[in-house]
Amino acid sequence: MFKNFWYGVEFSDDLVVGTPKRIKVLGQQLVIYRKPSDGSVVCLSDLCVHRGAALSAGELKGDCIVCPYHGWEYNERGEVLKIPAHPEKGIPRKARIDAYPVVERHKMIWVFLGDLPEEERPPIPDWSAVDDTETYRAVTGTFLWKSNYERILENGVDIAHTPFVHRGAFGNPEKPEVPEFEVETSPWHCKASVKLNPPKPKGLWARMNPGGGDLLNRPLVPVSTTWWLPNAILLEVDLPMGKLKIFDINIPIDEETTLVKFIALRTFFKGRWADKDARRRVFKVLKQDEAVVDTVRPELLPYDLSDELHVRSDYNQVMYRRRRRELIEAGWSVEGNTIVGEGPARVEARVVPSPVRREVPELASAWNFKEVRSKELLGQRAEREERGDLPRTDTVEAPGEEVPA
Ligand code: FES
Ligand SMILES: [Fe+2]
Repeated sequence: MFKNFWYGVEFSDDLVVGTPKRIKVLGQQLVIYRKPSDGSVVCLSDLCVHRGAALSAGELKGDCIVCPYHGWEYNERGEVLKIPAHPEKGIPRKARIDAYPVVERHKMIWVFLGDLPEEERPPIPDWSAVDDTETYRAVTGTFLWKSNYERILENGVDIAHTPFVHRGAFGNPEKPEVPEFEVETSPWHCKASVKLNPPKPKGLWARMNPGGGDLLNRPLVPVSTTWWLPNAILLEVDLPMGKLKIFDINIPIDEETTLVKFIALRTFFKGRWADKDARRRVFKVLKQDEAVVDTVRPELLPYDLSDELHVRSDYNQVMYRRRRRELIEAGWSVEGNTIVGEGPARVEARVVPSPVRREVPELASAWNFKEVRSKELLGQRAEREERGDLPRTDTVEAPGEEVPA
């Protein structure tokens, strides 16, 4: 799990003014709420610095959130403005919690979990198609998945699994070959595009497309899969009857639990009458993926590429793993199990550091909760091998050699 990224955490429509909502990302509980004054969204660590109550169970008072335990009032910057038991005394310097930057874009609430200054933050993925309501009809959905989000992300961009896992949905088991694909990359994303041989349409799609069952004359279907760091994916399919774009965010609740939020767009059957079918198709695909991803071992991605055997059709996933290794080496990986969550009874209180920790060095001693530890040790494979807690890999071919440059 990585800090220093924008995390899409909730659909904009699902957060109303006045009702705080508890969310959990990177193993840390957060509270989000809409300010009554202007409707903008606030995101704070959901851990009262006084005696650890969850602010999300509290109420709003103006634009402040009031802790349900002893009534301390926090503003949108996470500063305590009032301690009701001692109204005449000053507020201690340490009476503050981390506040995370928030942006609303593409019908989602994005929270920046990390301490990078604004100009160094990675971009929010370009999901502008979501805003084009003229061209696309959208349905949304949420799916709780008991697997690691990186396994889920890799599955989402994996082209070779569709004929097997999604046979009968959109995979064609008679044509499992993955042809040469075109690739587009940046430091923050990778998109692979191919033309696939589609299976026979079924259900509503078949009824609306009587010619679609003609196996010989069916045109190849352009398909592309994209990942954006740290956890977003897009599946695009250009069907003869129109375009399909399924955006999804795989929110790491913790290392083993993922909350998938999807926005599925289509340019065909744009009436409300087809929404139920569109949503059902996405859930069907997610359930098919879940059945296989939940069996994958190890549950978390191995650090080294050579720990699994990659082939050419795994290009997109290999690109992800290479970038992931760079992020780990840059110290952006966080150890989930030291963040206060619902974990062991006496885990240390650690939180993802927010930007103000860097911006205002004079506050260095004012943070009651320490920064979550970086997992950069993961990158020090040689040392772990020395210690004997890893098998040696000298005999394994150089990683990624199978993959086009
Ligand atoms: S625990 Fe929040 S005010 Fe006491
Ligand atoms: Fe899949």
